[in-house]
Amino acid sequence: MLKSHSCAELRKKDVGRKVTLAGWVHRRRDHGGIAFIDLRDSSGIVQVVFNPQIWPQAYQVAGSLRHEYVIQVVGEIVSRPEGTENPKLATGEIEVIVEKAVIFNASETPPFYINEDIEIEESLCLKSRYLYLRRPRMRDNIVLRHRVIKFIRDFLDARGFIEVETPILIKSTPEGARDYLVPSRLNPGKFYALPQSPQQLKQLLMVAGVEKYFQIAKCFRDEDLRADRQPEFTQLDLEMSFVEENDILQLMEELFTSLVETVRPEMRVLRPFPRFSYGEVMERYGTDKPDVRFGLELKDLSDIAAQTDFAVFRSAVAMGGRVKGICVPGCAHYSRRQLDELISLARTCGVEGLTTVSLSGETAALDKVKSAAAKYLTSAQLKDICDRLEARPGDLLLIVAAKPELADKALGELRGEMAKRLGLADANLLALAFVVDFPLLEWSETTGCWESMHHPFTAPRQEDIPLLDTEPAKAHAHHYDVVCNGCELGSGSIRMHKRELQEKIFKLLGYSQEEIEGRFGHFLTALEYGAPPHGGIAIGLDRLVMLLAGEQTIREVIAFPKNQNAVDVMFDAPSYVDKNQLDELNLKLKHEILRQPQNDRV
Ligand code: AMO
Repeated sequence: MLKSHSCAELRKKDVGRKVTLAGWVHRRRDHGGIAFIDLRDSSGIVQVVFNPQIWPQAYQVAGSLRHEYVIQVVGEIVSRPEGTENPKLATGEIEVIVEKAVIFNASETPPFYINEDIEIEESLCLKSRYLYLRRPRMRDNIVLRHRVIKFIRDFLDARGFIEVETPILIKSTPEGARDYLVPSRLNPGKFYALPQSPQQLKQLLMVAGVEKYFQIAKCFRDEDLRADRQPEFTQLDLEMSFVEENDILQLMEELFTSLVETVRPEMRVLRPFPRFSYGEVMERYGTDKPDVRFGLELKDLSDIAAQTDFAVFRSAVAMGGRVKGICVPGCAHYSRRQLDELISLARTCGVEGLTTVSLSGETAALDKVKSAAAKYLTSAQLKDICDRLEARPGDLLLIVAAKPELADKALGELRGEMAKRLGLADANLLALAFVVDFPLLEWSETTGCWESMHHPFTAPRQEDIPLLDTEPAKAHAHHYDVVCNGCELGSGSIRMHKRELQEKIFKLLGYSQEEIEGRFGHFLTALEYGAPPHGGIAIGLDRLVMLLAGEQTIREVIAFPKNQNAVDVMFDAPSYVDKNQLDELNLKLKHEILRQPQNDRV
């Protein structure tokens, strides 16, 4: 090895030792003719000192060192002089007096600071990803990801699970996104689809008798990207035979609790994880992925609103809509501009407007209230609204009158926004919760068909099976989500293990018999050979690590992510390919014009 120790492992107990270290010049300072360099390797940072009085030759090398040069130093560990210790560094009590230094490689000046975590333009940090990953925060994130995966593997291995790899070149399996297709050279005109998830494969492993499967699985989905979505991402995918819903939820609760205790002991989880029905979370939080670290719950005011003279409220209720509201503590002082921002936010959710009520007086009396609705309310009605929302003088009420799903959506957004503004969420709390009892299907106005709320392999509740023939909308599913701090972390269900029921669901979803055979024939046949009862779940690993790392986007916990347009800007992928390659694949581009000759080669 070109080094005897890692930079960050050195401590006071090592004083007097001679060490050889290798790494990058992280930061350089010169004081009184002495050069101090923070030397960084994958473990962290240690201060190395070049003193011309003691080792003049080494000091000469120091003269040419710039940021990100790769060097090797040989020297003795000493205690830092009193008063110069750095408590922020694990190695802050010591330093290395350099006797000999070698430059392994020089470095161009990086396009951004590596030793300061200043926000930079995304394209820059994606283009020079290898430099961005040198930032200590990014290194910590990548290490954390490794620890999370290792913990999961050990945890599940100890419980009898085995990891089985499943293929990447398969057939389309529906998870609600578009497929990435791969043309087959050996089968002209035919395409593989990259798995949106290993859903069918893990179920087939249950038919194969595996009983406890898991996989750290790559999934691919061609969908609109957001902070928590990448076109290729990783799942902890899991499936078990002979289980009921509760078994999976308990396993997840144990897994998450011990994971956090092990990899992020400074963070808290609250046990037991609360379980909400889908109906309840929508009613209370306006979203199926609530952040339950704070209150600001939505309250239904429709009964009171319907009695008022305020036309906005009355007509919404008369047309089957709802009037719901939240109470934001201490924000009655919000200015017109601030209120307008909230109204605009509500409108992005499809509602026409937002009624704001500022309880700015010392009592919540009508004449002290600022609101467009005030003159249409009686004192008693205002009091009822305040009581329902548990509002006090000084608070701001945000009220939406709209179709039920739009009112929930808008207030759910406003709830999140106000919590952010008021700093209501504890950053060290991971508020994990289960959402259960989802509807099995939802009606799509666009396609005029029933669609699976989750995916078509989710079993309906046993007692709801008769509803499939009468009122499919009312059938509930054995489907559960794990949510954490406003993020959908994972999703799973008990599956159908009998062909007849599975086939019935495919038909309900509008597939013709021919399509069913073509797309799912292999799967239905497998169910005929003694498929055991089974169920499972998939956790978004990138989202899990993002939450554990306290990051805002999953791009910060993926070594080489893509940008919002699904482009890898470092490799410039996707890119045009050679005409010969297309010919081999029997493909012809429709828009030849778009091909740029200089980009023709991959
Ligand atoms: P689902 O489609 O809900 O379920 O996915 C499970 C979890 O995967 C994560 N996830 C994503 N993460 C990053 N980028 C994406 N584009 C993306 N899409 C999904 C989320 C999500 O909760 N086969 C089923 C699971 C099952 O039934 O067992 C499935 O894939 O965290």
